[in-house]
Amino acid sequence: MNLPAGSKVSPRRNVELSKYCTMRIGGPADYFAEPRTEDELSDCLHFASEENLPVFILGKGSNVVFSDAGFRGLVITLIHFHDQDIRFNLDLHEVTVSAGVHLYRLATACREAGLSGCEFLSGIPGTLGGAVMMNAGFSRFSGQKNEISDLVKEVSVLDESGARRRLGRDDLHFAYRHSNLRGKVILEATLKLWRRPQEIIEEEIRANFDYRNREQDLKHPSSGSIFKNPPAPHPSAGRLIDQLGLKGTRVGGMMISPKHGNYFINAAQATCADLVTLIANIQKAVKDGYGIDLEPEVRIIA
Ligand code: EPU
Repeated sequence: MNLPAGSKVSPRRNVELSKYCTMRIGGPADYFAEPRTEDELSDCLHFASEENLPVFILGKGSNVVFSDAGFRGLVITLIHFHDQDIRFNLDLHEVTVSAGVHLYRLATACREAGLSGCEFLSGIPGTLGGAVMMNAGFSRFSGQKNEISDLVKEVSVLDESGARRRLGRDDLHFAYRHSNLRGKVILEATLKLWRRPQEIIEEEIRANFDYRNREQDLKHPSSGSIFKNPPAPHPSAGRLIDQLGLKGTRVGGMMISPKHGNYFINAAQATCADLVTLIANIQKAVKDGYGIDLEPEVRIIA
């Protein structure tokens, strides 16, 4: 293995990816690395390019699953990538956050700083990098959209050629659970926030957790919402599946949560093949029942 001399990160062989995805399915990665700093990350990318390996960048793995065969290349998880961690500019009401920082940690750090804006991110089981990449969102109020893109001022990335670039608002394009950052490695992002009393921020964080506990299935391994919601005025994917009486439907070890129609849960040693079949069955049922094409939100890496 050709890592640059002095490199502190050494990719491991044959690492089970199920441990790194919240759905707890997927086979092994040929190579797997957990860089902590930008230098270590560059070393990993250098290694992959020398060895001609495809690279997949993973955050908390809450929106991604790998096939049962695993990944023939290098998977790099950024969960330990806290290079610059969380840095506030209190005068400008801004925070700059490394890609690997967990969203709950970010939300509580902002609360301590008396800065508001990140409360809605607190219950999302993901990292800052993953959230920006897929424009994560959450709102307790139907019709209201809170997405991380509302806050993003600037993003630093390694582009496809490995060069570090700073992208401002004009370079960034976000849509529902989508950004134009695919193919790039997010290093950090700067978010624009505003002042608010800590107790109110705390109340908001608590209310968001209560909402998620009440409405969503947080007790079983899942990838959050499996499908994107169809555009208005259609009901949400969860409600459509619920109305068809499909909650509890099972293929192998994969089951639609009895609590929420858009949460598929790993009920017992599910495989990725179980998930793929269940997704196809539900897409067909919703198409037959309502004429609506449901598009997966979860990324299945084959
Ligand atoms: N509902 C049902 N039956 C179900 C599920 C939901 O009737 O089986 C109804 C309930 O009335 C519930 C309402 O739908 O109160 C809304 O449910 P929820 O708040 O879970 O909203 P959602 O539209 O299913 C979206 C996002 C979630 C996000 C919530 C809250 C998508 C695909 N999902 O879910 O995001 O947490 O709104 O903002 O946009 C995710 O993307 O992984 C995710 C969890």
